[in-house]
This record gives sequence, structure tokens and C-alpha cells, in this order.
Amino acid sequence: MAPSSSLFLLVLLCGHSVSVSVSPRLSFLLNSTQRPLVHFSLHDVTNTTTLLLSNDGSTLYVGARDAVLSLDISQSDVISLRRKVQWRPSEAEIKECSKKGKNEVLDCPNFIRVLQPINATHLYACGSHAYSPRDAFIDSVSLSLVELSSGKGRCPFNPFQRNIAITIDSELFSATTGDFRGVEPQISRHFSTGGRSDVCQDSSVSLLEEPTFITAAADSSQNKLYFFFTEVGTEFSFVEKLQIARVVQVCKDDVGGQRTLQKKWTSFAKAPLLCQSHKQLPFNILQDVFTLPPLEGAADTLFYGVFTSQWSSRPESAVCVFKLQDVRAAFAGSYKKLDMQSHQWSPLLGKHSYLGKCGLGGASDTELEMVRMSFLTRGGVKALAPLLVSSEQSFSRVAAMRTTVVDGKHYSVLFLLTESGFLHKVVLLDQGPRVVEEIQVFSEPQLVKNMVLSSSKGALYVGTSEGVTSVPVATCSIYRSCGQCVLAGDPLCGWSLRGGACVRVDGSSDSVVQDVENRDVENKCAAQRGIGAPPTEVSVLENEVVELCCAKPSNFARLTWTSSLFKLLPQRLFIQSANGSLVFLATAATTAGVYRCEAEEDGHKEVVVSYSMRAAASPRSLRPDDESNRGGDETFEDIATGKPPMRTPPSGDEEDSADEFTADLADATAAIDGDRCRKANDLKESLRKDSQSQRETFEDTRKDKSYYSELLAVSLLFFFCVCVLLLCGALYLWCHRKVEVKVDRLDAVDTS
Ligand SMILES: *[C@@H]1O[C@H](CO)[C@@H](O)[C@H](O)[C@H]1NC(C)=O
Ligand SMILES: *[C@@H]1O[C@H](CO)[C@@H](O)[C@H](O)[C@H]1NC(C)=O
Ligand SMILES: *[C@@H]1O[C@H](CO)[C@@H](O)[C@H](O)[C@H]1NC(C)=O
Ligand SMILES: *[C@@H]1O[C@H](CO)[C@@H](O)[C@H](O)[C@H]1NC(C)=O
Repeated sequence: MAPSSSLFLLVLLCGHSVSVSVSPRLSFLLNSTQRPLVHFSLHDVTNTTTLLLSNDGSTLYVGARDAVLSLDISQSDVISLRRKVQWRPSEAEIKECSKKGKNEVLDCPNFIRVLQPINATHLYACGSHAYSPRDAFIDSVSLSLVELSSGKGRCPFNPFQRNIAITIDSELFSATTGDFRGVEPQISRHFSTGGRSDVCQDSSVSLLEEPTFITAAADSSQNKLYFFFTEVGTEFSFVEKLQIARVVQVCKDDVGGQRTLQKKWTSFAKAPLLCQSHKQLPFNILQDVFTLPPLEGAADTLFYGVFTSQWSSRPESAVCVFKLQDVRAAFAGSYKKLDMQSHQWSPLLGKHSYLGKCGLGGASDTELEMVRMSFLTRGGVKALAPLLVSSEQSFSRVAAMRTTVVDGKHYSVLFLLTESGFLHKVVLLDQGPRVVEEIQVFSEPQLVKNMVLSSSKGALYVGTSEGVTSVPVATCSIYRSCGQCVLAGDPLCGWSLRGGACVRVDGSSDSVVQDVENRDVENKCAAQRGIGAPPTEVSVLENEVVELCCAKPSNFARLTWTSSLFKLLPQRLFIQSANGSLVFLATAATTAGVYRCEAEEDGHKEVVVSYSMRAAASPRSLRPDDESNRGGDETFEDIATGKPPMRTPPSGDEEDSADEFTADLADATAAIDGDRCRKANDLKESLRKDSQSQRETFEDTRKDKSYYSELLAVSLLFFFCVCVLLLCGALYLWCHRKVEVKVDRLDAVDTS
């Protein structure tokens, strides 16, 4: 065994996983009204998973099951169908497919797996086509389709197998298996221009071992292409099949050798991609790679890779970043040579400067023989350290963007899609990653899925079996105050001093405050203090059980309730439940004061909501509400502002207030759907339903009577519960003491 592989093994054996938790600050469930997504689906189109953005960013092409669509995405709030073309196998072809043992519904349709621009007017498409791949040219405007003969070697037979296709200057480069069983991997060039022949990989040696292809990137200044994938690492002797993440290079203009390696790559070489934390098991299975081009004149092209581990027993993943310079350096370095007899790798000694180079078309046969045998680099491409390791999430797709903030600094923002359907938005900082938010984009795990980022539209498009979902990269309006806006630490959002709102940031600005690094709210929002909303008026009846709702502004916030009536809220009177609500019985001692719910996060305190309590008038009296009824001739709607989010008796001035509750609660409940004041919402609903019937029985005193009896029953029940609780407590204490006495006695027996 080569020394490097022993070292690798040693690391494997000593390594033990110590992952950290990177939890999101905000969480939004599917169909959240606060963080709205735009969804597109058609009842007769499924498996909309192959996505291609047009150059101008106004069209999204979608490869689906038996169809190709073009979607209009020029508007940010709606996705509409431009054109659709059917492309399905014939009945005979489906029969043939099912005769070969494939499922007619699951395997035999034409799943479009490649959609690439081939020239200014046409797209190239390739579909699994009843386990007999076909390809076609498609007019990018009319979507009229011209089928070609066979797509073998350009996209897979099996629609569940991953493949890569990329077009450069009208030439197609693909990585896929080219056979029915899906065991013959092939990286090749098609539609070669300039009279040169197509090139594929040498089959006399096994260049790839059971690869799972991920994605490709072009290195235009070196005329090279990189294919990222995971395969079995044969350079390691290991009891189980050791997976290893890799990058393959080929030269774009490779024409193959003259006698040796005719029409075969003379530039094919592969290198391991290493993503590993110090003293931990390596993350060796690549899930996705996103290529982030450099800023003008500045940094290097970066490859963000999402990895999982072969040895994980639970969801776990890591994000590593690789520099283009390091990829180039690996292929420019030294190589290993495969011994054909023993199938062992050994370091290649001596000078072989032609290895990994472009333009070997005229190289000698001895040189090309050496090329044939030496296609693995000695060194790997190393990430410095994982940018992020999650011990809870299994990330499957990644997209990245650079953004400029108000002080002119640049930040990278990652979007990581989990297997379970959440999109995590992560800001990369010197002090570590920050997960600004998580957004649920689908609910059922998806075998096949894809994600593309449109920088010009500021949106991510996620394609699943069910449809296409557009996710805005930021919805800054979810932050209602300067404090929340700055505390979010989202480089895409800042507080506009002029507009008094949290707005999308895109470049430097004087009138917008932001502090991505330190989130120094006290400093940045000093001028914005004391503009809190006035307390919500609440009138309650004596002995009524009151629930005051308070939604956490973030997952990290800690809520505390204070009152003008008490220094500390006595625990025997008040229950602060886990969902933030304050529950208590309205008595002479607890009403007629202001209750404030305050959130604390990282030393910053902010009042989330406050309520001003009053004892309500007798339900039967129709005394006008002195606070809200400021003028005699106001309409009902005007009168009924600022009503409490709770059930109140149907006295006159409570009528018609249901609609106003909505506005109040929208203000009171902040960003997190999961913590939304559910009860308050239910109440809104029931108030809305009830308001009609209440209006009809406005003067009906029997209703009031029944209300009284209800109240009495509730109060009695409450006191009964308290009694039972006390009794249980007493019983428990008594039992406990008895046991203790017994144990003491036993102890005494033991020691004697
Ligand atoms: C989200 O909305 C869609 C359509 O409006 C519905 O089919 C789906 O069940 C909703 N999902 C959840 C989790 O509420
Ligand atoms: C683009 O490719 C298609 C298919 O090969 C061809 O019919 C068309 O003429 C090409 N268009 C241009 C502008 O080259
Ligand atoms: C196609 O979509 C269905 C759900 O509609 C899903 O079960 C199936 O796995 C998908 N197949 C492929 C090849 O994506
Ligand atoms: C909050 O929790 C309490 C019990 O702890 C429950 O009675 C109440 O309904 C909950 N409120 C909301 C808004 O979910």
C-alpha cells in the first residue's frame, strides 16, 4: 500500500466526528405568507427537474417528463407558461421498454435530462426516452423540435442516474453512462466543430470506477473543462468500497492522438477533492458543486462543493470551497502510474511535463502510452477547512452569490438545499458561517431535483417532481424594525433611514444602515429608537382566563414579560408558556396595567408587543369605548380599532372588530410561522364567523346569560383543576417522604 493511502487509513481509523450545529435564525414553513414563494405547476406535467436559464434571465426552460416548457420569469411575482412541447416515446417504444423489465410509468416515459443552449437560436435536449435515449434540437422561441437519431452516450438510459452536459461554442461535452445497464461511464465531446472528430475516453483502461456525475465547469482561459463526480477510489486497498470525490480535466480542443489514443482524450486526468475537518472522517461523497466566477480583477474562481460522508449514520454534511488555482496546480503537478498487471498505483518518477497538458495531438507514441497509464494526480485538491459542517442537515444542492453591502465590502451568500426540502441561506463571515434563515420549498423528499440561481432576477428556481418554485434571495420586509433588520445580519437587507423600512441592499449607500459583521443594533439604530407601536388595548372581564400572545422575532430570541403592576410577575398568578404566551386569570390585581413582551437576542432588547389591560364594562351595558370612540359620528370601522386578540363578550363596541384584529395581529406576530399566535388566529377566524350571528342577536339577553353560564363553568373548571393539582402535589410529597423513610431504613439495615 502506498504511504499516502496508509496515511489516509490512519486518519480514517483515528477520526471521530465532532460536528457543530449551525441552526437558522428564522424558519419559514411551506406556503408562508411572510416569505412568499412563487410556484408553477401544470396538472399534466410532472418531473420538472431539468432547468436552464436564458441569457437575458427572462425565460426558464424546463425539461420535464415527456415535455419541454419555456416559462416567463420576467415578473418576480408570477411564473407563467410561454410554450410547451410534447416529446414522448411511441406506444411501441414503451412496450419495448416494459418488455425489458422496466416499469412503464416510472421508467419508460421520456425524462428530459439535458437542456443546453447549442447556438443563438436553438437548444439541445436529450431524454431517457423509454430507456433508449434520444436527443433533439429545439427552437428556443417556438420550441419546435427536431428529433435526432440516438442520444446514446449523451444522456443516460436510466432516468434516475445523474449525468452532466455542458455546451461550449456549439460543442457538447457530456458525462453519462452509455449503456442500458448504466455501468459504462463515458466522458465525451459531440458535435465537434472545425472538422475535428468527436473525442471520447480510452476504453483499454478503466478511467472511471462506478462514478456518480455531479456537474461541470469551463476554464476558458486554459481551454479546459472540469467534471466533478464521486467514484470508487481504487488507489486505496480497503475492506469496503471507498468512495472518493474527484475532478476530471479534459482539454476543450483535444483531438486525440495520431496512432495511440486515436479519437481519445490525450488530456484526461483526474484528481481527488479533499474536504475534511481536522481529525475527522472525510466528507467523501460529492453532492453538488457551484462555480462562482471572480469579481472583475479580484479573487479567483471558486468552486463551492457540498459533501456528505460514506460513514454517516444520520443527516450530516459539509461545504468546502476549492480555488481554481488549486485545481490547476493539481493537474500541473506530479502523477501516479497504473500498473496493468497488478492494478496498483505507484508514484511516477522522473520528468513528464507533458502530462495533463493540452495540445498533445502530435505527441509521440511513448508519451501517449505514458498518458494512457498516468491519469491520476499524486496530490489532491485541498479545501482549507470546511466552511460549514452540519451535524443535522443533509445538504444536496448549493448556489452561491457575491454581494456588496452599504459600506462597500463584499460577502458571499450560500443557498443550501437540504434533502428534506429546506433552503438554508448562509452568510460566510470571518468568524464563521451564519444561517440567516431557512425556507421550506418542498415537503416530500425528491429523488431528482435541481436548483438554479438567477442573479439578475434575485431568485432561486427549484425544480422538483411536482413543479418549479421561485424563492426570492431576500424578503427584507419581514424585518419590522431597525433592530430586527440589523440583528438579522443579512448582507442583502438594510434599514432605510429615509423610508423607515428594511430594504434590499445592492451596493453602497449612505441612507441605509447595516452591520453584517457585528450586528451592533444599539449603535446603528440609535436614531430609530422609541418609535414603538402603542400598546394594544385589551378589555377583560373579571375571572376571565386571559392569553396574551407574543411571537418570537427569531429562533434565538428569549422572551420576557413585564408589567407595570408588578416588579416581577408572580409565578403563582402568571404562566409564561413555551410559545411565548402569557396566561393568567383576570382579577382586580392583574388588570388595569400594561403588559410588555420583550425579546432579547445577543444583548439587544426590544419590545415585541405590549398590551394595555382594562376591566371591561358589564357585558349588557352599551357604554361607548372611551379610548377608541373619539368622536360620536365615527363609523363602526373607525370605532373598532385596537381590539384585543381574544374572545370578548358581545357588547356593543366589540362588534365588527374582526377585520381590525387582522391588522393588529399582523403587527404583533413577527417573523416565525411556527410560533405564530395560533390561538389568536383561531379567534380571528371564529370572530369572523361569529360576528354575523352576534349581530343578529345583538339585543338578545339570553345570549348574554348563556355567556355568563359558560364563564361560570370555565371558572369552576379552572378552580377544580387547581384543587386537583394541589391535591396531587400533596399526595406526591407524601409518597416521596414515605419512600425516603423506607430507603433510610434499608440503608440503616445495610450498614448495620
Ligand atoms: C401549500 O399550498 C399548496 C397549494 O396552494 C397546497 O397544495 C399544499 O398542500 C400547501 N402545503 C402546505 C404544507 O400547507
Ligand atoms: C443552430 O443549430 C440548429 C440545429 O443544428 C440549426 O438548424 C440552426 O441553423 C443553427 N442556427 C444558427 C444561427 O447557427
Ligand atoms: C417523477 O415524478 C414522480 C412523482 O410525480 C416521482 O415519484 C418519480 O421519482 C420522478 N421520476 C424521476 C425520474 O424523476
Ligand atoms: C401556548 O401554549 C399554551 C400551553 O402552554 C396553550 O394553552 C396556548 O393555546 C398556546 N398558544 C398559542 C398561541 O399557541
